[in-house]
Amino acid sequence: MRVTEEKAKGRFYTPEHIVGSILNLSGYRGPGILRKHVIDNSCGDGAFLKEIVKRYCSEATGAGYTTAKLTGELGRYIHGIEIDERERNKAVERISDVAGEFGVKRVRWDIEQGDALSETRFDGQMDFVLGNPPYVRVHHLADSYDEVKRFRFSQNGMTDIFIAFYEIGLNMLKAGGTLGYITPSSLFNSKAAFELRRHLVDKNLVRAVVDLKHYQPFEATTYTTIMILGNVPNRRTNSRRSVDYYEYDPLKRTESFVCRLTGDDFYIDGNFYFASNEALTRLSRILNCGTKCPGIDVKNGFATLLDRFFIGDWPFGEYVIPVVKASTGRSSKCLFPYDRSGKLIPYSLLEKNRLISARYREYESKLRARSLADGNEWYGFGRTQGILDVYKNKYSICPIVKTLKDLKITKCGKGTGVYGGLYILTDYDKRTVESLLLTDDFMEYVSLLGKYKSGGYFTFSSKDLKRYICSKLSE
Ligand SMILES: C[S@@+](CC[C@H](N)C(=O)[O-])C[C@H]1O[C@@H](n2cnc3c(N)ncnc32)[C@H](O)[C@@H]1O
Repeated sequence: MRVTEEKAKGRFYTPEHIVGSILNLSGYRGPGILRKHVIDNSCGDGAFLKEIVKRYCSEATGAGYTTAKLTGELGRYIHGIEIDERERNKAVERISDVAGEFGVKRVRWDIEQGDALSETRFDGQMDFVLGNPPYVRVHHLADSYDEVKRFRFSQNGMTDIFIAFYEIGLNMLKAGGTLGYITPSSLFNSKAAFELRRHLVDKNLVRAVVDLKHYQPFEATTYTTIMILGNVPNRRTNSRRSVDYYEYDPLKRTESFVCRLTGDDFYIDGNFYFASNEALTRLSRILNCGTKCPGIDVKNGFATLLDRFFIGDWPFGEYVIPVVKASTGRSSKCLFPYDRSGKLIPYSLLEKNRLISARYREYESKLRARSLADGNEWYGFGRTQGILDVYKNKYSICPIVKTLKDLKITKCGKGTGVYGGLYILTDYDKRTVESLLLTDDFMEYVSLLGKYKSGGYFTFSSKDLKRYICSKLSE
């Protein structure tokens, strides 16, 4: 895949209304901003710096500054870093225009063209770190991979450069300073951000959160959150500091306050969840319930890794079973080269069937090109999941939902396979399964998990579903 420059550098610029929210929530407003150091450490073409300079100039004007004094302070207190020279120059041009509107010219701006991953001259110096750091997943990082992996928060999973930027930003703060970023909301639940979450809670750094949920303020298809962190001295006495939780209203283009939480409310089982106190209490009851309950299991359906070869309306007469596509509930047939115990049938037997053999020959190279799980043969499914449960009772279920009607619970009796979603393995009757899941309580749970999909949909994993079922059965 060609990686666009936008993707490689994480270059998606922040709209004004989001910049305004971040500055306000961080406390970058009013006369208190004068003579306070502020940086955007990945400033792009200056979306944040423009508003910062505007606020600084209008406060200075209100405070009766001379032009000479303001010119000096703009260069001394406002800082930026941008890796791309052209973007850095655009930022300087834009903030010079803003200063010009206040009659200020020839500022010696401290906006450097450089790499924030290796810049240390701002460490411990900033009152405010504000911005929208780059989001670049580790496999697109190329040159900066080793640099990023150097950071303490970047050790786990499929890391992303924005996680390192939290560490960089926090390092830049003075005691008492404030960081305000907009970054992917995957920081709430990704494995990669595990260390970051633990650090934020251990050190009591979170001050406010605005969950943008499905609203995407950038062209990028990323779900984001605004995080306001406060580097407060004397943390011990503040061990239960509260966090203001907001949601974003895309129509009014502003955040609206929901409630005040503490780490005990929103840090559950290593992840972050934000909602009203009552909803979080319901959620933690489910998440802390565990996944052990007799008589029921939830699993992933077949992963053939080449559905168009295996699934269809086959005239083979043998080695075919009925299947249900969990995401739609639709039935069709599946070429199933396994015996009743789930063992792969020898290819020499399969190819005795002329039609099957012809089909295998036609698709052989594509079948071999799949990234097969270790030990899987080229003519079987890509993964073994779901195969052993074909001859058991189960219900397929669609794991991407917007409303309850999307759940599509379909009974799949013994001998029927499931692909394209999850299945619940149980001998319970359908009414029991439906009464567990077709509830507003389940929809609330799924939305609180915060796994967003486009179009207002949410997804959930087999483990998520199992936890929910176990907690309901234990009630
Ligand atoms: C998401 S954009 C945000 C830009 C700006 N803060 C805004 O909100 O409009 C991230 C910016 O970070 C820059 N960038 C990427 N890696 C960087 C690095 N290692 N050091 C400094 N800037 C970097 C990109 O060139 C891009 O302009």
